[in-house]
Amino acid sequence: MTGKEDMLIVSHREIAANIFELVLQGELTLQMTKPGQFVHVKVSETFVPLLRRPISIARISREDKTFTIIYRKSGEGTALLSKKKPGEKADVIGPLGNGFPIDSSLKGKKVLLTGGGIGVPPLYELSRQLKAIGAVPVHVLGFENIESSFYKEEFARLGDTYFSTTDGSLGVKGFVTDAISYHEIEFDRLYACGPTPMLKALETRYTEREVYLSLEERMGCGIGACFACVCHIPNDPAGYKKVCSDGPVFRAGEVVLSC
Ligand SMILES: Cc1cc2nc3c(=O)[nH]c(=O)nc-3n(C[C@H](O)[C@H](O)[C@H](O)COP(=O)(O)OP(=O)(O)OC[C@H]3O[C@@H](n4cnc5c(N)ncnc54)[C@H](O)[C@@H]3O)c2cc1C
Ligand code: FES
Repeated sequence: MTGKEDMLIVSHREIAANIFELVLQGELTLQMTKPGQFVHVKVSETFVPLLRRPISIARISREDKTFTIIYRKSGEGTALLSKKKPGEKADVIGPLGNGFPIDSSLKGKKVLLTGGGIGVPPLYELSRQLKAIGAVPVHVLGFENIESSFYKEEFARLGDTYFSTTDGSLGVKGFVTDAISYHEIEFDRLYACGPTPMLKALETRYTEREVYLSLEERMGCGIGACFACVCHIPNDPAGYKKVCSDGPVFRAGEVVLSC
C-alpha cells in the first residue's frame, strides 16, 4: 500500500562528501517491507521545483517507525533537501515500486550485492533482510573515491565487503567488475543498483546467472501516470515497462538498458 505523509525528520547529517543520511519517522514506515522500494520526496514548501525526487529506502526500522534515505546532493532538488533540519517535516509519498525479490530458498546461498555510488543505499536494507533469512551476503561497492564512500563498516558487519574506486583511493582501482574479478567472487544470485553502464557490464558478464538490476531512471509522477520513465522491452519495438511502477528492479534482460 502506498501513502502520503508529512514525516518528522529525526536526524540529518552529511556522512561523506556531498552524501547525506536522512532519518524520517511516521506511520508510512509500517508499509515499507521490500528492499529496493523508493519514496518520492517533496523537497520544498513551494511549487519550485514542481516534481518530487525519488530516493531509495536504505534502512527500515519498524520498532521506532523510522526509515533512512541516503542521497547525493547533486542538483536543485537535493540541494534544497539538504537544508532541512531535524524537527522539521518532509512530505513523503511511498513506498513506491517493486523491490528486490527475496525468499527462503536463498537460505545458506551466497548472494552478491553490487552497488555503484548513489546505487549503494538500497543494498543496505536488502543485505539486512538477506542476512535475516540466513543467506550469505557479499558486497562489492564502487565509489568515485574514498571521500565519497559511505556505510563501509555498516556493510562489513553484514558480510564480506570489497570496494572499487575510480582513483584507487579505496579498494581496487577501477570498476566494481574489476573488484569482482580481483577477489574471484563466486555467487548464487546477483543484485545490483547503480549507473546504467555498470548494470550493462554485469548483465553482459553474467548471462547464465540469476541477476536482478535496479534502475534509477529520471521520473515524473513516480506512480505510473506520466510515462517519463519508460524502458523498452527487448525484441519488441512497441513494448515498454515503466521503471516507477513495473520496477525499479527488473530481472536482467527484461528491459533494454539504455533508457
Ligand atoms: C528509483 C530511484 C531511486 C533513487 N535512489 C536514490 C538514492 O537512494 N540516493 C540518491 O542520491 N539518488 C537516488 N536517485 C536519484 C535521485 O532521484 C536524483 O539524484 C535526484 O532526483 C536528483 O535531483 P536534483 O534536483 O538534485 O538534481 P537534478 O538537477 O534533477 O539533476 C542533477 C544531477 O542528477 C542527475 N539525475 C537526476 N535525476 C536522476 C536520476 N533519477 N537518476 C540518476 N541521476 C539523476 C542529473 O543527470 C544531474 O547530473 C534515485 C532515483 C530513482 C529513480
Ligand atoms: S514516473 Fe511517471 S510513469 Fe513512471
